[in-house]
Parts: sequence; C-alpha cells; structure tokens
Amino acid sequence: MTAYPGALLAQTLTSTGQLIDPLWHRALLSVNRAEFIPDTVWVTARDHPGYFRPVTREDPDHARWAHQDYALAVQVDDGTPVGGPNGEPGWGRLRTSSISQPSLVVDMLQALDAQEGHRVLEIGTGTGYNAALLCQVLGEGSVVSVEVDEALAETAVKNLAQAGYHPTVVTADATGATEGVGEGLFDRVLSTVAARGEVPLPWVEQTHQYGIIVTPFEVGNTPGVLLKLRVHGDGTASGHFIGDAPFMTLRSQRPDTRRVRELVDEDAPGVTDGLIGLNPRVVAHRHQGWQLVLGHLVPDLRYAVYEASEHHPEWTGEATVYVATPDGSWALGEYTPADGMYETRQVGPRALWAEITAAWDEWVTHGSPGRDLLGVTVDEEGTHLWAGNPVAELGSVRRGRRRRRLFGSS
Ligand SMILES: C[S@@+](CC[C@H](N)C(=O)[O-])C[C@H]1O[C@@H](n2cnc3c(N)ncnc32)[C@H](O)[C@@H]1O
Repeated sequence: MTAYPGALLAQTLTSTGQLIDPLWHRALLSVNRAEFIPDTVWVTARDHPGYFRPVTREDPDHARWAHQDYALAVQVDDGTPVGGPNGEPGWGRLRTSSISQPSLVVDMLQALDAQEGHRVLEIGTGTGYNAALLCQVLGEGSVVSVEVDEALAETAVKNLAQAGYHPTVVTADATGATEGVGEGLFDRVLSTVAARGEVPLPWVEQTHQYGIIVTPFEVGNTPGVLLKLRVHGDGTASGHFIGDAPFMTLRSQRPDTRRVRELVDEDAPGVTDGLIGLNPRVVAHRHQGWQLVLGHLVPDLRYAVYEASEHHPEWTGEATVYVATPDGSWALGEYTPADGMYETRQVGPRALWAEITAAWDEWVTHGSPGRDLLGVTVDEEGTHLWAGNPVAELGSVRRGRRRRRLFGSS
C-alpha cells in the first residue's frame, strides 16, 4: 500500500470521471476505508433472493472489498439478524446500515458544495467513514453527525477516534428536532439515508438561508434519487433531482413491506365492478419521471402484473393488473389489447384507479417530465413535487392546495 490508504479507491473513481474535486480527492486518499469496516459484513445471498449472508474477516473478499467501489451492509435487521431460509444463523432480511458505495459518497459530497468554514450536519453516521471524509476537509469542529442506532453510533465514534477524528456524534432520530447538535444553524445538511416521500422539515429549519441540503429521496416503487435543495429566507427549501441514489430508508419512514398478494382479498365484501379508460398496465411503465409522480400522488401503492400467457412478450398480451395499498384498498384492471375501456374491480377506502388516472393526467398535462425536470419544495405543509419550476406543483389543484409562487411568476 502507498502512503495514501485510499489510493486505490481514488484512482478507480478518478478513472471513471466521478472524482473531480481536489478537496474530496485528497480526503479520499487520506482516509482508510478499511478501518471503518466491521469484522462482519453482509452480502446478497445469490441462491436465496431477499436474504443477506454474513462474510467475516477470514474471507479474503472482506479485505478486498474495502478498497473497491462497493457498498457493504454493516448491520441487518436493526442488529438482530433473523436467520436464513433454512435457519442459517446470522443471515438477515433487511440491510439497516451500510458503508455506502464510494462513487455515490463522492457524488454526494461534491454536490454538497461544502467550503472551508462551513458547518455541516450529516444524517446517518453508520460506520463514520463519510464523517471522517467531512472532518478531513472541513475540520472536526465543523462536523455534527446523527445516528439513530446507539450501537452503531458507539462503534462509529471509536472508528473515528482511531482514525484521528473527533466530530460531534449524536444518537437520535434525525427526523425530529435534534437535541445536542449544538448552537447555531448549519450551512450544509448531507443525509446518507433516504427520505421517503417527506423530507423532514427540521432539516430545513436547521439550515441557514442559501444553505444546501443533499439527500437521497424515494417514493413509491422507485429506487432512490438524489435531491439537492436550496434553503430560502421564508423557511422553505426547493430544488431538483440531480442523479440516482439508491439508499436504505430513514428508520422512521420505512414502508410497509407487504406485497400485493398479501393485501388482496378477492372475497372481500363490497367489491365493485367498473370500467376505466386508462390502460391499467401504466402502473408498471418504467419511466422514472412517471414513477416519481405516481409514487408521490398515489402514496403507498404497490402493483403486480399477471400475464395471461407466457407466449406474449411483456406489454402485448392480456394481463390482470393488481394494485393495493396497506390500508386495505385494492383493485384490479383487466388489460386486453383490443379494448379502449378496461374492466376493473375494486374495494376499500381509496378509489385506486381514480387516483392513478388523476396522477397520469397530471403527468401528461405537465409534459410527461423525466427525473431531471422534476423538483421538490419542502415547507411546513409537507413535501411538494413540481415539474420545471416550483409554480407547477403536481396535484395541488386536486388536493385543493393553493399554488405557491416562490420565485415570482414563471
Ligand atoms: C447508509 S448508512 C450511512 C452510511 C454512513 N454515512 C457511513 O459513512 O458509513 C445509513 C445510516 O442511517 C441511519 N439512520 C436510519 N434512520 C435514521 C434516522 N431516522 N436518524 C438518524 N440516522 C438514521 C442507519 O442506522 C444507518 O446507520
């Protein structure tokens, strides 16, 4: 190894064109990622999808991965692994902490645009590796990191101290107003855990005017996207999606994991038949902009498409499309290639096909925007999605919200 423990990682990320800022380049060179990786990490069990198997230090891969562009789970099932499909001890179902993928770490740090003198709040200390990079560039007195899991926070503090850094690490749920982060506002907030549907308002309230918040964000069935918000003088924040950022979800915003087949009861009383003009297959349309709009306007929706015949390629033959939400609402739509109208059945408190149709109309009315044209405003009423600029809020008319003009008329 050279005098620089992060040389291999820095070289990899420079060659892919991701590491461009000299400040973060020097930080990556200086911090030894291997020192932040615990004796056991968890990786996908290839033969058992949905399970993660432990890999210990005895495995030569363990040491190798530390210097490669991989995320590694460092905790599963909130610290109590539930076991494998055949009772294998130590196996887990849900990754609940990880040392993030270095290329993503670098993307996010560069997007944060943090300068010397800035005070930075990190959400999700995890192993402490990212906090160490922040300390290396900004100085340990400028870095506060919040971790919800006490055991992880303790280990992170030890890891950081061994590497020579002593930032403030607070054990708390960062979605609330956080005690212990010290006096004064932050210039930058960097979340290393995904906000689901709602960006917590305290992150905006704890940030200076013109300050920047960078966070992974997810809704519906989309893998996370990276959101960069600028904080305004009126106590709101707004900004665009700037990339992809698949991350684990904030502990307090974790979604209900039940699948469609666990939520549909075909014999439920009160099922009504109907017809819709919207092709029910649109719920599975993979356009990222559409999936963001659908996830935002029809929260908690999940779907499953059952093809009538395996001989037709996807999208061409008859299919039954099921949609459901955890509150007991579900619906199905029968797709047939010939029809202009599609038969439906639905039950429950939410009229799901009406919600999905309204979301589709909104998306089309706004010009079918992709991810890069979509953005978010966070204010005391919640998290709002817009297309192009904040004036063009999606769903505001239907939900009876007044449209807000943050930057004057467009
Ligand atoms: C992807 S890991 C963070 C990686 C970390 N920055 C590193 O360098 O190792 C996400 C972390 O967020 C933490 N977390 C989840 N929900 C949280 C919450 N509500 N408040 C604070 N931390 C949270 C998890 O326990 C987990 O350790």
